Amino acid sequence: MRLVVTGAQWGDEGKGKMTDFLAQKSDVVVRYQGGNNAGHTILFNGNKYALQSIPSGIFNPKIKNVMANGMVVNPKAALEELAKLHSMGITDYQLFISDRAAVIMPYHIALDGAYETAKGGKMIGTTKKGIGTAYADKYARIGIRIGDLLDRDYFAERLNDALSVKNLELKMLGLETMEFEPLFEEYLEYGQKLKPFICDTSILLNKEVEKDSNILFEGAQGVMLCIEHGTYPFVTSSSPSTIGVPIGTGIPPKYIDHALGICKAYNTRVGAGSFPTELDGDLAHWIRERGHEYGTVTGRPRRVGYLDTVALRHACRISGLDSLAIMLFDVLSGISELKICTNYELDGEIIDFIPSTLSAYNRCKPVFIDMPIWNEDITQIKSFGDLPENAKFYLKKIEELVKTKIAYVSVGPDRTQTIEI
Ligand code: GDP
Ligand code: IMO
Ligand code: MG
Repeated sequence: MRLVVTGAQWGDEGKGKMTDFLAQKSDVVVRYQGGNNAGHTILFNGNKYALQSIPSGIFNPKIKNVMANGMVVNPKAALEELAKLHSMGITDYQLFISDRAAVIMPYHIALDGAYETAKGGKMIGTTKKGIGTAYADKYARIGIRIGDLLDRDYFAERLNDALSVKNLELKMLGLETMEFEPLFEEYLEYGQKLKPFICDTSILLNKEVEKDSNILFEGAQGVMLCIEHGTYPFVTSSSPSTIGVPIGTGIPPKYIDHALGICKAYNTRVGAGSFPTELDGDLAHWIRERGHEYGTVTGRPRRVGYLDTVALRHACRISGLDSLAIMLFDVLSGISELKICTNYELDGEIIDFIPSTLSAYNRCKPVFIDMPIWNEDITQIKSFGDLPENAKFYLKKIEELVKTKIAYVSVGPDRTQTIEI
């Protein structure tokens, strides 16, 4: 079985928790896009882990963890992440990093910050990890790949070529240029440290497909942040949706069996960009505090709002979602007023799609239906049947509105707080 676990909203849906939960039945866990802009929180046995670029199967020594070619990898940050795991007692693991994954270099981070500053009030609110600028170089064909770090002469040539362009850009933006020698030596060393993990992961993965292994593809971010199908330009620079899997791994699309969309029971967004169902005031504050809605990577308060099923239907369509996991459902217990967005109103018309331009999307007003509330604590509930009637009604309404079955309901951050339907 080849399963894709993908964010169905604007990221931070609880993918880490579900990947970890489902990883128990997997042979291989694969990150196929993004980089250390991701923050995937996992809780088990009383310990809390926040993974950024390492796949969420890392806690189980039997699982092969793959950082595939579609990722952008900051070698320094990846080594620090591994060192942190070591310090928490996670020392026995299997990790494979694609020789074709793009390297995030220090100039990518400097330029990410400088572009944001140059945009003034129109900044995207990136994680400033050099994600977009590293992907831009990959597509401009001046990127450096992980495998390049292992070949001294070839890496020297690639870095020279890259610096001749990047230093012009840095100078233009009033930033300090970067010298070849220290960068070269530093990144050669990272290459040597990562060497035991580096391989052609497409060969590895296709062999696992031949063996009929259980492979779990762990998406980062969410469909609404997709470079192709998200709320452009307020997006990340990769394709978090199911369509990112074949290109980001070298596994043909025909081998993907099931796509599970991870979806909060409400909506959140970090960074700028339209958010039609966004709430403010006391209710927003109440949800943010109950859901601990602060960014895992940047600590920024997340914007919060009611569940948006226009965006969710968009995610189901783009990612071909076969089923959904509804996360942070416990947060809604005791809410004073509960609504679901069914459609948008755009210039007096009721619509059921995401407009392609931000100017139109900004004019969209949510059309809500009122939902009955419940006050019971549901964090210890183990089966769907035991949920309060109004909570069951909420879940049924989501299924009806997005025409996709709910397979899991999460009622707390711990591995054990998961209802399978
Ligand atoms: P990801 O990026 O999609 O992996 O999500 P994050 O880890 O950034 O954010 C999700 C947050 O919600 C984390 O702090 C999780 O520990 C937490 N979480 C996940 N599922 C649940 C749940 O069902 N209930 C509650 N209260 N918290 C949850
Ligand atoms: P996980 O995997 C939520 C957002 C940033 C910004 C935009 C572009 O934890 O769900 P980038 O640094 O990628 O160029 O920033 O995307 N963003 C995320 N939002 N969860 C994430 O990852 C995100 N990764 C990037 O806030 O708006
Ligand atoms: Mg996150």
